[in-house]
Amino acid sequence: MNTVSTVPSSVNSERPYHLLAIETSCDETSAAVLRNGREILSNVISSQIETHRRFGGVVPEIASRKHVESITLILEEATQIAGIGLDQVDAVAVTQGPGLVGALLVGVVAAKSLALALDVPLIGTHHIAGHIYANRLVGEILYPALALVVSGGHTEIVLLESEGVFRILGRTRDDAVGEAYDKVARALQFPYPGGPHVDRLASEAQEAIELPRAWLEPDSYDFSFSGLKSAVLAEINRSRMKGETPSFGSLARGFQDSVIDVVTVKAMRAAHAFGARQMLLCGGVAANRGLRNQLAALCGKAGLPLIVPPLSLCTDNAAMIGAAADLKWRRAEFTPLEMKAEPIFSLEEWSVTK
Ligand code: KG4
Ligand code: ZN
Repeated sequence: MNTVSTVPSSVNSERPYHLLAIETSCDETSAAVLRNGREILSNVISSQIETHRRFGGVVPEIASRKHVESITLILEEATQIAGIGLDQVDAVAVTQGPGLVGALLVGVVAAKSLALALDVPLIGTHHIAGHIYANRLVGEILYPALALVVSGGHTEIVLLESEGVFRILGRTRDDAVGEAYDKVARALQFPYPGGPHVDRLASEAQEAIELPRAWLEPDSYDFSFSGLKSAVLAEINRSRMKGETPSFGSLARGFQDSVIDVVTVKAMRAAHAFGARQMLLCGGVAANRGLRNQLAALCGKAGLPLIVPPLSLCTDNAAMIGAAADLKWRRAEFTPLEMKAEPIFSLEEWSVTK
């Protein structure tokens, strides 16, 4: 990644510093102010879920327009709640990618304009690094750490060999976990986003319909969820053709059991293989109660400390972008103003270089 070498005097100085962070990669417009990279002074999130619900998913063009409508107000609110003036902002961080290009652009243009007007550094930030470093707003990270990233757009097992150095051990080959939850939820007639509904139904169900688990090759840390999703749909069709009403509860439970089994077993295997000293759970699906409980139980048994951010830091938010940007701030690795929004963006290449 291109970096700018001029180091402002505020980096490495003893005085407190403020990072203003912006996130617009999908359907949340968010701005946050962090003090000293760890302390959240504000984290304002405006969700567009209500707007997209009637379409059953995020409509990219509408998402961009909504970001344009709200970004200025959200930025004003974030600085007001933080109780700082724009002259106290030391750097502007923004999600550079991955995400919807039109949505990312709104945040990127706002961040560039602010950085230019305030004459402070710009830090283009990786969205998944943000999800992972949300954990640093909760506690100290012990390295090497293993991150299980489960969101609407991503499912990855990431090794952090040291601070800010990312290595992807496995990823989904088709649907992301959250995407699979949302598709299954639609088949069970729940509105978008359906993950929380499936989670609730699964936790209330007494029985589970046994569904397949995609373990893939024995040594693989990759995932595949499209077969599982198809198995749920096939089960619904099979019952209907026999004139029966499918048990949505048992199906939700069977689906959830399969997902949780595969992601937790693979994450634990990776943690063991790479000598991880800590497990980090992150992304919107980290809100899932079944997943939290099972991972906590497995980590407990293995004596592996686990951090799970509070729900407000699991789903998309700008504080997590500030937390990841802080890695770059402390190393004075800044992004040139010519930077572009990157809908496809490598996490490994975004690693710190110092
Ligand atoms: O991380 P996130 O806010 O957005 C992305 O960056 O993708 O994740 C949103 C995803 C949605 O697919 C939503 O259905 C899922 O997280 N989700 C859940 C739960 N809460 C949110 N999935 C399963 N169980 C939940 N409790
Ligand atoms: Zn996300």
